[in-house]
Parts: sequence; C-alpha cells; structure tokens
Amino acid sequence: MASAIFRIWRGDGAGGRFQDYTTEVAEGMVVLDAIHRIQAAQANDLAVRWNCKAGKCGSCSAEVNGIPRLMCMTRLSELPLDKPVVVEPMKAFPPVKDLVTDVSWNYEVKKAIKPFRPRPPDAPDGTWRMAQSDVDRVQEFRKCIECFLCQDVCHVLRDHRLHRSFIGPRFLVYAAALEMHPLDAEDRVDDLRGAHGIGYCNITKCCTKVCPESITITDNAIIPLKERVVDRFYDPLTKILRVLTK
Ligand code: SF4
Ligand code: SF4
Ligand code: FES
Repeated sequence: MASAIFRIWRGDGAGGRFQDYTTEVAEGMVVLDAIHRIQAAQANDLAVRWNCKAGKCGSCSAEVNGIPRLMCMTRLSELPLDKPVVVEPMKAFPPVKDLVTDVSWNYEVKKAIKPFRPRPPDAPDGTWRMAQSDVDRVQEFRKCIECFLCQDVCHVLRDHRLHRSFIGPRFLVYAAALEMHPLDAEDRVDDLRGAHGIGYCNITKCCTKVCPESITITDNAIIPLKERVVDRFYDPLTKILRVLTK
C-alpha cells in the first residue's frame, strides 16, 4: 500500500497551524477517507463534519489544495500525491475547530429572503396552469445541496467580508428559484438591489466553477436577476413610467 502526507489545519477561533500526517492510501479513496483514517489512528480529536459520504448532504465542505471542494467527492487519484495534500476549513466563515466552520450566517440570510407566495389558482377547482418550459427553468436551482462552497469562493465574502451587505451566490440561486417560479407572485427586485446587494457581484463566475451540482449559478441565476434590477431601476423608459404612474 502506498502512503501520502496530509497537511491538515488544526485549531479553532483563537488560531491554529498546519500539522502533517502520513497515512496509507489505496485505489478508490477520497480525501474524506484519508481524514477518517488519520482521525481513527493518529488524531482522535480531529474535528470534521460529514454525513452522507455521497455528495448529497453538503456537510464535508473544505478547501483541498486551496480549492473549495466536498471532501467526500474528491478522489485521491485526482491529486498529486508526491506533495502533501493541504486540507483546511472554508475561509469565508468563522472556524469552530479544525475542519469545521460555523455556517449559521447562511441560515440567517435565508430567513431574510421573501418566501414563496403563489398567485391565486387559475381554475375554479383550485389548480394552476404552468408552461413546462417555465417549470424546467427553475429545476436546476433546486439541485442545491447547501454546501456553501460557492459562498466560500466568492471574493465579496471571502476577501471583502461583506457578509452584512451581500447574500452571496447560494442565496442568489435561491432568490432566482423563487423569482422565476411560474406561480410566484412576490416581488424581490427592490431587495435584490438593496439589502441583498446583488450589485457587489461582478460576474467572475468563480462560484459556478466550484459548484458540485454543476448549477450554472452566474449565467442562469445571477445575470437574469441583475437584468430585472436594471430593467426596474436603470431603464430610462421604465423610469419615466414609474414617475408617471406614481
Ligand atoms: S460571480 Fe458573483 S457571486 Fe459568483 S463568485 Fe463571482 S462575484 Fe461572487
Ligand atoms: S449553489 Fe452549488 S456550490 Fe452553492 S451551495 Fe448550492 S450546491 Fe453548493
Ligand atoms: S459527506 Fe455529504 S456531501 Fe460529503
């Protein structure tokens, strides 16, 4: 059996450092397997969050060789094992212990987004009519597993720490799923421009690149929402109509 070195960040909110562990690796292993092997044999107190080991719960998010990834979906065969594999917690959120971060800010953000509000039924029997193409459009957004890797990679949160002013790509996807839902009658455009801070996104597409569910975050969610904001607030004709109808 071959072996590899894993350089794991150990610490908490007060600070920490990287520590090297050498462990045996075998074909088919993922990073989370190696972390568990190290935890079992060498570092019983190593904190790591995980649940499904199948890329579906969104719990095992971390940074592997500097890239936000799900540890359970990162095969060791994809990594250069002649160098230490660097594993560290997400940087956009406060560290709790070792590889575990406090992602509770995300749940607070979600609560601030206006919820689904269906229009009245289209038929006397209480049912609605929807075009299949409108239904299909939002299906992609519903694949989100809330791993928050997109939030972690976004420079607005990661580097500029604008957590109070910008909801981040995950919640722009969530807002898009609601805004584009064929039955939804709520209006979130003012919030998107104001409290949700969509203007901070400069469409670098880093979020789309790290999404394990391959959601086309920027092109399919953020850009159409930005277009709605532009149409309402910056289109000269709409501006005149708004003044006249006030
Ligand atoms: S495209 Fe926008 S939301 Fe996505 S990472 Fe870049 S700035 Fe952040
Ligand atoms: S949009 Fe993708 S990267 Fe972002 S939280 Fe959802 S699944 Fe994770
Ligand atoms: S353990 Fe569930 S996504 Fe990795």
